[in-house]
Amino acid sequence: MPRDTRDLRAAVDAATYADEGEVLERLVREAALSTEDRARISAAAAALVRDIRGTTRPGLMEVFLAEYGLSTDEGIALMCLAEALLRVPDAETIDALIEDKIAPSDWGRHMGHSTSPLVNASTWGLMLTGRVLREDRAPGPVAALRGAVKRLGEPVIRTAVGRAMREMGRQFVLGESIESAMKRASAQEAKGYSYSYDMLGEAARTDTDARRYFDAYAQAIDAIGTAATSADIRDNPGISVKLSALSPRYEEAQRARVMAEVAPRLLSLAHRAKAAGIGLNVDAEEADRLSLSLDVMERVLSDDALAGWDGFGVVVQAYGQRAGPVIDWLHDLAERLDRRFMVRLVKGAYWDTEIKRAQVEGLEGFPLFTAKPATDVSYLACARKLLGMTDRLYPQFATHNAHTVAAILDIGTDRDAFEFQRLHGMGETLHELVRSREGTRCRIYAPVGAHRDLLAYLVRRLLENGANSSFVNQIVDEEVTPEEVAKDPFDALAEARPHIPTGPEIFLPERANSMGFDLAHPPTLAAMDRARGPWRAHVWEAGPLLAVEARPEPAQEMRNPADHAELVGRVAWASRADIDTALDAARVWDAPAAERAEVLRGVADLYEEHYGELFALCAREAGKMVGDAVAELREAADFLRY
Ligand code: FAD
Ligand code: 2OP
Repeated sequence: MPRDTRDLRAAVDAATYADEGEVLERLVREAALSTEDRARISAAAAALVRDIRGTTRPGLMEVFLAEYGLSTDEGIALMCLAEALLRVPDAETIDALIEDKIAPSDWGRHMGHSTSPLVNASTWGLMLTGRVLREDRAPGPVAALRGAVKRLGEPVIRTAVGRAMREMGRQFVLGESIESAMKRASAQEAKGYSYSYDMLGEAARTDTDARRYFDAYAQAIDAIGTAATSADIRDNPGISVKLSALSPRYEEAQRARVMAEVAPRLLSLAHRAKAAGIGLNVDAEEADRLSLSLDVMERVLSDDALAGWDGFGVVVQAYGQRAGPVIDWLHDLAERLDRRFMVRLVKGAYWDTEIKRAQVEGLEGFPLFTAKPATDVSYLACARKLLGMTDRLYPQFATHNAHTVAAILDIGTDRDAFEFQRLHGMGETLHELVRSREGTRCRIYAPVGAHRDLLAYLVRRLLENGANSSFVNQIVDEEVTPEEVAKDPFDALAEARPHIPTGPEIFLPERANSMGFDLAHPPTLAAMDRARGPWRAHVWEAGPLLAVEARPEPAQEMRNPADHAELVGRVAWASRADIDTALDAARVWDAPAAERAEVLRGVADLYEEHYGELFALCAREAGKMVGDAVAELREAADFLRY
């Protein structure tokens, strides 16, 4: 690998936790939009918002989520319920969940609020149910009657909420089979749209699941190929795949297995897509899989048999600090291989999960921006970058936001050099207006599959539609003016926003969280490796620590359970006499609480300071994996501080 290329790849990993403020300064420069440009774009976007509102009435799903979005306790209760309902197998647990989620909320507050009679009717139902479920369990005939209503209530709600979830799910799925989906797609194709089909299924848990998903992709590619009639691959339908569907252990810690399992499976699908004359796009998933995914894709793309095929697509998530470096690396890879790739630019669908994961893992930073306008600005900077690389990359701008679309149209004057994309069931009017007026290409990402595989996808869509910072949520709220909906994100960057606590901060002021390690972050892994280095061959000597002299048993050798030839250390166990001596010498520790607390905190700090030695010991003496060693250290430090 040439040095420049190595630097570009290392720059991606190095940017994972780059300082949000510093990255944004660069992105604002790279977006290169003057005050006049920005005013023009916002005006065009506000006009689009007015046109959208004047053309269509929002659907039931949008109106429902506008009333019960994530900014109300009731909305959150419903989302939790919806998410859980799709997974819980038995009626009893579902009823307990309904009671838990519905009863404590204030549904009456929403009465008569919505413009939709159907949403108001649901509010009635929820309010009545909430009242019934909240009643005390006092004895007597009235309570018995209430109990009966309650028993009647839960199954009724169970059925109603279950059906509502299916209804919402239907909105986002084009068909249960690829054949029915392709048939349904023909109406939009006749208008000029193209499709990227997504066979539902991700995060395989077993190899059987992974093989089932692989087969579904392979069969879908063959079916989609029958509709690939153009010599220009950009006009043909394509497929989107998720690497997490192809292996149950698609994770950094299993890198060797991933390279031996996911890469050949993806390569096989790529060969098939090339033969079918269609595009194959790799969706972007969680941030801790990004670095690994780039290496899998490079391995696949290096196959000479793929030469001459312009259909390989990569998704870049603008909400990550790494978006720009990933695009630079992709362009370099395309040059090295003398290929052209498709790059779908999205903002990113895993924001909430990423924030929570980083906090729980005690990480000092986030691998993505914490402010919505930052992601919007990043998107535009990346768009400008992609539009300057069309010699090798074909930009595919996936967004439902009118401001983002207006900005792309302003920057990308060559309408043939890129395409827009939207999700099935979202952004119909915006994209129809733009396509018919501007003559731009538009591709629809269309999930295909059964209800049981929809959960994860559906939850991401509900979060997106339910967040009041989302464009799709704001546009159905007539109280938000078109100017506000289409607000310039560069101006919005300066607005004060609540700070999102990082991993070390989440338990403050009570106590510090234990130190975290991102086990998918190559620089962190390298630092851990360095810290363990001096302890790789060390031989520890362990024995009882008494306030007086100990007389332990003769020392015994401890060997590495994974390699008995390796001596880890010698342990001299305490003798019976040592125990008596220790008990005789023991004194009550009656120092003031604050002093004892200081000692415990000091121990926690020392544990963390010496993590390299402790991890080496966990691995060599107890055969622990790195993740287990981290958990062990964090649990100890948390207990001490708690
Ligand atoms: P907007 O309302 O303008 O943006 C919403 C987005 O802003 C959120 O999704 C989030 O990314 C970001 N955001 C929200 N709050 C904050 C905050 N506080 N700080 C920082 N950022 C914030 N997503 C993937 O992850 N992987 C994919 O492979 C993928 N494929 C897609 C394919 C297509 C065709 C489309 C249309 C979307 C795809 N998406 C994918 C989903 C996409 O990420 C979301 O639809 C998108 O983020 C919504 O952006 P928007 O411009 O439509 O809406
Ligand atoms: C998702 O699955 C569309 O790829 C995106 O959420």
